[in-house]
Amino acid sequence: MKILGIESSCDETAISILEFDNKYNFKVLANVISSQIDIHKEFGGVVPEIASRHHIKNIGGVLDKALLDSNTKLEEVCAIAVTVGPGLVGALLVGVSYAKALAYALDIPLVPVHHIAGHIAANYITHEELKPPFISLVVSGGHSHLIKVEDYTKFKVLAKTRDDAVGEAFDKVARVVGLGYPGGPKVSEMARKGEAKYKLPTTKFEDSLDFSFSGIKTAVINLANKEKENLNKENLCCTFEENVVNVLVDHAVTCCKQNNIKKLALAGGVSANTRLREELQIQGNKNNLEVYIPELKYTTDNATMIAVAGALKYLDGKFTKDLSINAKASMNIEEE
Ligand code: KG4
Ligand code: ZN
Repeated sequence: MKILGIESSCDETAISILEFDNKYNFKVLANVISSQIDIHKEFGGVVPEIASRHHIKNIGGVLDKALLDSNTKLEEVCAIAVTVGPGLVGALLVGVSYAKALAYALDIPLVPVHHIAGHIAANYITHEELKPPFISLVVSGGHSHLIKVEDYTKFKVLAKTRDDAVGEAFDKVARVVGLGYPGGPKVSEMARKGEAKYKLPTTKFEDSLDFSFSGIKTAVINLANKEKENLNKENLCCTFEENVVNVLVDHAVTCCKQNNIKKLALAGGVSANTRLREELQIQGNKNNLEVYIPELKYTTDNATMIAVAGALKYLDGKFTKDLSINAKASMNIEEE
């Protein structure tokens, strides 16, 4: 069977075509991404209205390329999987409307996909042996969650950030030290040249594995204002990265122990971070955990992860021909 995935929740217009069977074998036939990073860079972040307009402009060409790359005719597709939320509502609407039109024209079902279920599913592409239950550390521009993946389409949120997402904090630090958007990769690159010599706070809660990154974000701003031209940007980026990586890894390992689960999968855009990938593997080995990390090209937003999550729901009978489904800016993954 072939499923077509569509992702447009933020600043990437992406379409993927995936072959799958009922034994959870997946083969990526096309993975097309049209990124708007260069457009939003100028503004220091994603401008929602501009993102929507560019999704509209790009989506037709992205579909044509996906069909060409995969040597597929639309008539061969059994369902359309689409990100319905969470994300920028205007951006999501472009993908959702396009998916509805395709499903209607082809008379095939729609599979509404939660964006985070997609990020988690990116692990199944790289690791065919991965099966639920497992814990997923989800770290992106909008999320910092610890999720128990109880089954392929059943999730339980065990902890989350009480304020900023970790990707958001990376982007903010980048702005403070003048590195531009998107900040994560730039902060990480700069951190490699520095040492963790500054002191930055870590926020922990009693009896909870929830995260909080607003404290460290404010501390970085205050430090930059105080040090001015004496600020060592490399050391600041390094201290920040070490601090958040340690918190994320520590909570994830503890979460596995508390739930007596030996499998830990990383997910979301921040999982592209080299230090996080390294440290999770090191601490995972020390604690006898099986650590799963997605291939770099499936860490940040893409439609293959949406197609995989969609295929899992399709196999579970969770699809619809109801064209009244809508985009949602916020959405609970437990109610998937
Ligand atoms: O998952 P994603 O592509 O979009 C959302 O769903 O939010 O994640 C984007 C986030 C951005 O905040 C970006 O700065 C961060 O992921 N990111 C990174 C790295 N690559 C992307 N953060 C740290 N290190 C990286 N190498
Ligand atoms: Zn994402």
